[in-house]
Amino acid sequence: MSDQQSILSGFRGRFGRDADALWSGPGRVNLIGEHTDYNDGFVFPFAINRRAVVALALRDDRMLRVASSFTEEIVEISLDDLSPETVSGWSAYPLGVAWALGQKGADLAAVAGFDAYIDSDVPIGAGLSSSAAIECATAVALDEVWNLGFDKQVLVRVGQLAENKVVGAPTGILDQSASLLGQTDAAVFLDCRSFESEVIPLGFDAAGLELLVIDTKVSHAHATGGYADRRASCETGARLMGVASLRDLTVADLPRAESVLDEETHRRVRHILTENQRVLDTVRVLREDGPGALGALLDASHASMRDDFEISVAELDLAVETARTAGALGARMTGGGFGGSAIALTPHALIPAVQQAVADAFTAAGFTAPDMFVVRAAAGAGRLS
Ligand code: GLA
Repeated sequence: MSDQQSILSGFRGRFGRDADALWSGPGRVNLIGEHTDYNDGFVFPFAINRRAVVALALRDDRMLRVASSFTEEIVEISLDDLSPETVSGWSAYPLGVAWALGQKGADLAAVAGFDAYIDSDVPIGAGLSSSAAIECATAVALDEVWNLGFDKQVLVRVGQLAENKVVGAPTGILDQSASLLGQTDAAVFLDCRSFESEVIPLGFDAAGLELLVIDTKVSHAHATGGYADRRASCETGARLMGVASLRDLTVADLPRAESVLDEETHRRVRHILTENQRVLDTVRVLREDGPGALGALLDASHASMRDDFEISVAELDLAVETARTAGALGARMTGGGFGGSAIALTPHALIPAVQQAVADAFTAAGFTAPDMFVVRAAAGAGRLS
C-alpha cells in the first residue's frame, strides 16, 4: 500500500480538492477450499497485507468520477445512467459496486455523487483478488458516506454482484468474504451455504512459518475461459446426482458418482467433494496439531486441482514441486487457477532457499521469472483515516 499522503495528493491532483477520507480493502490468499464456494461448500482464506485504497469525497451533484494511480483516465458517469451496460474496464469494479448497492436496497435516487481515487499494491492478475480488494474498499466507503448501515454479509454479496453482473465473471463469495471478514493473523472458515463464518488463528509466527506467494505471472481472466466451464460441470454433476448443489454430497457419495457420471464430470465432482473434506480436515488439524501439520493437506489439494479439476498450469506445478523439494512443508496453487499464484507454507529460515530454487527452476524451464513475496494475514476492509 502506498503511503496515505501520496494517495491523498493523487486525489487532489486529479480532482483539485481534498478527499473526505480513505478506506482500504485487502487482497486474499485462499489457504484451502478451491472452487467450493459456488458449490455452497467450505473455504478457508485469509486477507493479506496487500491492499487497495480508495480516497473519496462526496459531490453536491449526481456525478460519479473515478480515477486511479494505474491510468491517467478519469471515468465519469451520472448515478442516473449507472447500469451493467454503461460501465466497463477497470472502472467496472468501483462503479459496479455503486450499482450493486442499489440492487441490494440502497436508494440511489437519494444519494450524492462522488469523486474517488484508487491505488493498490495487490498485484493484478496474480490470483490474489485485486478486484475484490477494490470492490470491498469501495463498498465500505460508500456504505459509510451514503449512510447505508449494511452489514458485511450484504457487502460481500454486493461485491459478488458487481463481479457477476458488471465485470461478467461468474465467481462465488470467497474473495469478498476474505477481504471483508479477514483479521490479523487469522483465517476465515466460511460455510458458503449458511454464510456462517469463524475466524481461526493461524499461529504461523509462533510456529516459525511463513506463507510464501509465488506469482507465476501467467495471467488469467475469470470472465472468459475455463472458470465458467468448471462451474457448468459442477452444476451438471449436481443435477445428474439429483441434488441442488454438490454441497449435498460427501466423499461417501463418490462410488455412486462414479457409476452415474461420465469420467470427466466424475473427476470434477471428486475434486469438490474431497476439497470440502480437506477444508474441514485443515481446520481440525490446525486446531489440534498447529500449522506445521498442514503440509499434506495443501499438497493433496494441489494434486486434486491438477489431476481432477484440471485448473493448474505447468508453471504452477513447477512452483509447487520445487518449493516442496526445497523445504516447504506443503504447497498448492491458490485462487481460480489457469495461472496466478501458488502458496508455499515454509519454515522462516528456508524462505531464501525456496525462492532461489523456484527462480532457478523457472529459468531452467524457460518460464518468465516469477515474483515471490511473503504475505501475512491482515485485517479486513475498513476506514483508514
Ligand atoms: C476465484 C473466484 C472465487 C473462487 C475461486 C476458486 O478467486 O473469484 O469466487 O471461486 O476463484 O476457489
